[in-house]
Amino acid sequence: AIQRTFSIIKPDATKRNLTGKIVAKFEDAGLRVVASKRIHMTLAQAQSFYGAHSERGFFGELCEFMISEPVVVQVLEGENAIQKNRDVMGATNPADAADGTIRKEFALSIGENSVHGSDSPEAAKEEIAFFFSGLELVG
Ligand code: CMP
Repeated sequence: AIQRTFSIIKPDATKRNLTGKIVAKFEDAGLRVVASKRIHMTLAQAQSFYGAHSERGFFGELCEFMISEPVVVQVLEGENAIQKNRDVMGATNPADAADGTIRKEFALSIGENSVHGSDSPEAAKEEIAFFFSGLELVG
């Protein structure tokens, strides 16, 4: 089925001017960008967005990283978009990521791993609504 998923191009990638190369990977995989904006997250936004991880030891570091530089938040649409996006991103830790994936090619570490993508339909719905209004989604 056609799905929508939520993506973030993270600070390590925007800082290295990799936005276009990462979007090309999405598009080459058959995903369409139906919403996109460059933002500089506030600490409150980062803490709220990653609230599910608030008890983890890396939470503080994760939030500080996510506000260290601008990010590009996007909604990607396509057949089986959630899994397709996860496939093109590769494993969370770039050391485990398969050849050709975004994280294999561009990520620096498990924290500075260039992209975020929703991991379920429920998460996609929540994460899209966190950053976008319905009017900003142009299919
Ligand atoms: P993301 O998909 O954005 O969701 C949670 C993020 O936490 C994950 O990608 C990683 O970048 C980050 N993360 C996971 N484990 C660690 C870790 N051990 N140290 C730093 N960041 C981590």
